[in-house]
Formats: sequence, C-alpha cells, structure tokens
Amino acid sequence: MNPVVVRAISALRQAVHDVRRRGLTVGFVPTMGALHEGHASLIRAARKETGFVVVSIFVNPTQFGPHEDLARYPQPFEKDLALCAVESADLVFAPQVETLYPQGFRTAVEVGGLQDVLEGSSRPGHFRGVATVVLKLFHLVSPDHAYFGQKDAQQVRIIQQMTRDLNLPVEVRVCPIVREADGLALSSRNVFLDTAQRKNATVLYRSLVEAQAMIKQGERSSTVLQRMLTERITATPGVILDSAAIVDADSLQPIDPLREQVLIA
Ligand code: PAF
Repeated sequence: MNPVVVRAISALRQAVHDVRRRGLTVGFVPTMGALHEGHASLIRAARKETGFVVVSIFVNPTQFGPHEDLARYPQPFEKDLALCAVESADLVFAPQVETLYPQGFRTAVEVGGLQDVLEGSSRPGHFRGVATVVLKLFHLVSPDHAYFGQKDAQQVRIIQQMTRDLNLPVEVRVCPIVREADGLALSSRNVFLDTAQRKNATVLYRSLVEAQAMIKQGERSSTVLQRMLTERITATPGVILDSAAIVDADSLQPIDPLREQVLIA
C-alpha cells in the first residue's frame, strides 16, 4: 500500500497522535531522499520493530556548505515513494524548506568536541545542521525508535550524544552498512561518479579491509595504519584525501596505540 504523504507539521502531529491512541509504537527513518537499498534496510528494521513507520524526505539546506551540492542533490521523489511503498512505510513526511525553517529561524544545536573533527573539519557547520534538523524531526515525529546507518559513523555518534545530553525519549538504532558487491558503500551521491571514479572509489573499502586485517594480525600502531591508508588512497587516480584517521569510537579523538573500540574514518 502507498504511504500517506504529509507536508504540514499539523497533519504529521495528528497522524502520530492517532496511531499512539491505537497503542502503536512509532519507528522513524530520517532521510534526504534519493533512497537506495541502505535506506530500505533501515525502513525494514523499523517495520520489524515498530507498529507505525514514518520516513522523512527532506534535503536539509543547513547541513550543506556554500560550495557544496545542495542545488544538484538528487530528488527522485516518485521513485522514493515507490520504495517506501515496497517497504511498507506508513507515512512519508516531506516538508517544504519554509516549514522547517520559517523566516527568522535562529536556533542551532552544537555537539561540542564531536562536530568539528574528521568530516566536520572539512565541512564546517555540517554537523550543526544535521543535529539541528534531527532534533526538530525527533520533536515533530516523536518516535520510539529512530534508525540510522553506520555508514555515517560520525553522524551516528553525534546523534547518540545529542539524544543522551538532551534526554530525548527516543532509542537510536544503528544499522549495518549496505555495500555493493565490490565493497562500495551505497550512497545517494554515488550517482555523481562516472565509470572510472566509481571503480576508483572502491579504494576506500579495500583500504579499510586491509587496515582491519592488519589490526587482526596484531598491529596496534595508528601511525602505521594511517600511513598505509594514506598511501593507498592518495595513490588512486582522481581521489583527493581529506583525512584518514584512526580515532577512539567514543570521543572521535586520535588514539595511538590502539585501545578498546576504534573507528577508522
Ligand atoms: O543521513 C542523512 O541522510 C541526513 O544527514 C539526515 C540524518 C536525514 C539529516 O538531514
């Protein structure tokens, strides 16, 4: 069955209110659209665990820098709705920009320490935009569980921290990365890659796997691992490396030698 498409906040709130009165739990999958199998896996997880599944489709302008790809971000809305229907989502919330950011909007959420490192250092303001819109969406949808992909590991960490710090009554569920057969993580932006770029992009997965194998064989030096990652990635034609880092999975700070849970980013 096709999901109900809702654009207004009042209609969203009414729908969630009605299903709660029926005793259903609410699962929420926030997205920017251009849905793929990674999103489908999140919707399936929500479908399995909750009684009413809300998917938001909103290309959030505040998480794009001035020279980023906001204007050309893919928006195949009808295709997205078809995927939501196949995965049995109940409601799609697709607000206009003015609905979430009316004239005079001023407030932002900052998750200090986590938002400015790694991807945040090359995309200033990105995670402030993400945290702000996710908090707004959490308030509007008031889900029991919200589903995010492990692919965006820093985003996940920031949302977990925000949820804890602000005592939000939502459980953040983190679902495994979905990859192509050759290891490339599914991403809405993969459509921007031409054939050669698409092939070269697999260096990310290959070097991660190599780092993981080195760790399993006993390597504990981040310096050694980072050198290998940097060499592999920079040797690949057309790839420009922002950073290759081995960080503590909780603080996202560099860690050397390796201890506890680490994230290779
Ligand atoms: O991961 C995304 O698609 C976005 O960052 C999110 C969480 C939907 C916020 O706009």
